[in-house]
Amino acid sequence: MKITTIILAAGKGTRMCSDQPKVLHKIANKPLLRHVYDLSSQLTDNSVHIVIGHGAELVKQALNLPEVNWIEQLQQLGTGHAVQQASGFIADEDMVLILYGDVPLLKLATLNRLLANVSQQSIALLTVNLENSTGYGRIVRNDSGEVIKIVEEKDATDAEKNILEVNTGIMAVPGDKLKRWLDQLDNDNAQNEYYLTDIIEMAVAEGISVVTNQPETVDEVLGVNNRMQLAQLERIYQQQQAEQLMARGVTLRDPLRFDLRGSLDSLGQDIEIDINVILEGNNSIGNNVKIGPNTHIKNSLIGDNVEILGLCIIEDAQIGQGSRIGPYARLRPETVLAANVHIGNFVEIKKSAIAEETKINHLSYIGDASIGSKVNIGAGTITCNYDGANKFRTIIEDGAFIGSDTQLIAPVTVGKNATIGAGSTITRDTPADQLTLSRVKQVSVSSWQRPTKQEKS
Ligand code: UD1
Ligand code: CA
Repeated sequence: MKITTIILAAGKGTRMCSDQPKVLHKIANKPLLRHVYDLSSQLTDNSVHIVIGHGAELVKQALNLPEVNWIEQLQQLGTGHAVQQASGFIADEDMVLILYGDVPLLKLATLNRLLANVSQQSIALLTVNLENSTGYGRIVRNDSGEVIKIVEEKDATDAEKNILEVNTGIMAVPGDKLKRWLDQLDNDNAQNEYYLTDIIEMAVAEGISVVTNQPETVDEVLGVNNRMQLAQLERIYQQQQAEQLMARGVTLRDPLRFDLRGSLDSLGQDIEIDINVILEGNNSIGNNVKIGPNTHIKNSLIGDNVEILGLCIIEDAQIGQGSRIGPYARLRPETVLAANVHIGNFVEIKKSAIAEETKINHLSYIGDASIGSKVNIGAGTITCNYDGANKFRTIIEDGAFIGSDTQLIAPVTVGKNATIGAGSTITRDTPADQLTLSRVKQVSVSSWQRPTKQEKS
């Protein structure tokens, strides 16, 4: 069965009070519409058509999906009108699946169940029972329990308003019949809209059966209309991800205070994550990794047995096994740490490779540097990599010892096992194995007297 998925995404989303089209608002850093597209792209033998209207260009650009057929609905005259715009792309023998671009938490299993229940001689509707069905289209059944129509809130009688089973909007309809019914839609209703839901009555009149399926939880079919709902769906999504991670052997000290905004390309065992950790983009985390509270990690590769203490910010970095980072460390892009490196508090590292067992424990800036193994960088060391116009590299060879408060004016090389005296400003390459220091001679003034406070007149 070839599937033609049509995602409706032309609506404005007035209640978001935003310059951005609604479907570009994000859950876990991913546009709502992208969640729906990613789901649909998991269906087999499927082509995806997206109906856009408000902010059409912005939506197309933001999603950047060349494999999608983008269809513009110039005026938003209703869900039926939206699907009509895609009519020309529907083949008779296709099964058409309708999805909404602002309903992001739907599950593949639910769609597959819906599709397994539909045939060329039926329609499958995804419905849900709500405690309060206000605002939704109600599923009207006859005495034998068969669906006979969907009635919208504004067109419903008081009796119909009491129905708690509602239309989620998600449905599967055979292509040939859908196209024929779309041609027959009118806007003779309370909202003067072309309702897609009117096809149900047409189907029933032709003796086509309407089968219904329900999702596992209501969460799957919740839509986003305002920022409160956006926040609610974010929390639901994060809770689901947290549960998946715990099922894979991750300890989350508090699943309610954890955010995964992206993917974990690989995930070891016995990882412990403290509260308020944000994992963003694509990260890989090895075995026995501990991540302290309030840490943000983006697009990074973290080896086995790494310990990251609290309050670190790590982006586009690689951290070798057994390394210890933080607290209060910032690893900026292109930081590559080998095994057993120690990076301590208030240390910033950028575009630098640091070999095994090197320690940079306090208050340092290391940028554009290559640092060998077993190097000790004292507190307050700064690689002066920038002259205001260009950047230059600092090379520190294996076993070097850099005294505290040293400035290394790049380009400069510190030789193997060299020692730099504390407080030095190093402007030229320093030889291996020797002590190099640049320091003003210390003087003491024996006649010195401290000033005393003057009497006010
Ligand atoms: C629709 C259904 C209703 C259902 C509800 C579920 C109809 C007539 N009503 O109502 O039965 O209970 O969804 O949330 O189908 N859209 C377009 N172009 C348009 C109109 C809408 O692309 O011209 C898109 C919207 O962007 C949105 C989706 O279709 O993604 C649903 O539109 P919306 O206006 O929210 O439909 P409701 O009136 O809530
Ligand atoms: Ca809606």
